Amino acid sequence: MMLFSSAEAVDYKEEIRPILNKKCFKCHTGPKAKGGLRMDASDDFAKRIGGDDPLIIPGDPAKSILSIKAGLPSSDGDAMPPPPARERGAEAMTAAELTLVRQWITDGAKFEAGSADASPATSPTTPATGAAPMVAEVRTWSNSGGGSLKASFVALNGANVTLRKEDGTQFDYPLANLSPESQALAKQLGGQ
Ligand code: HEC
Repeated sequence: MMLFSSAEAVDYKEEIRPILNKKCFKCHTGPKAKGGLRMDASDDFAKRIGGDDPLIIPGDPAKSILSIKAGLPSSDGDAMPPPPARERGAEAMTAAELTLVRQWITDGAKFEAGSADASPATSPTTPATGAAPMVAEVRTWSNSGGGSLKASFVALNGANVTLRKEDGTQFDYPLANLSPESQALAKQLGGQ
């Protein structure tokens, strides 16, 4: 079965995010997100659209774990929200919501970085077309939780450091959440 693509692409921010917010954010936001799946942090979420460990396969809702789980009947233990939570009032997506989510995925799961959270966006600097942006050296950053990430330094702005991943996506990260070594490196590169 094929879904028709609609004339107007489904808009993530206007149409999809409100659904996830209502039905999924309760358990899938913040550092303690269930299953390690954060839907509120744009960089975390964007990383799982396509990529190595995809939640969403652009163009293929039938193979995207997000739409699969959201569409399972509550008799299925893999359904989202989990059946026990449904008994305590967590609501599943309605058929209309699920159709919209599937349509968005069919349309390519367009997702603008920065649209998933309310933090100050990195917009004016993001798509550097034309003159090649200065290719900053890729470094390994670590955070206070022991995680690490390879990215190049872009800027230090107040309490956040802007980093660019190797796939070109840029995001802001709170300086205070980096390891002391990485904080020192960000300050050094930011000229502070
Ligand atoms: C009441 C809490 C709760 C709600 C609400 C909830 N989830 Fe989950 N979710 C979990 C838990 C717990 C896990 C980890 C265990 C598992 O995978 O079954 C999980 C895992 C997942 C995973 C697998 C993550 C991975 O990396 O493989 C997906 C996909 C998912 N949820 C999607 C959703 C979607 C879509 C919604 C909204 C329709 C939703 N969840 C709502 C609790 C919740």
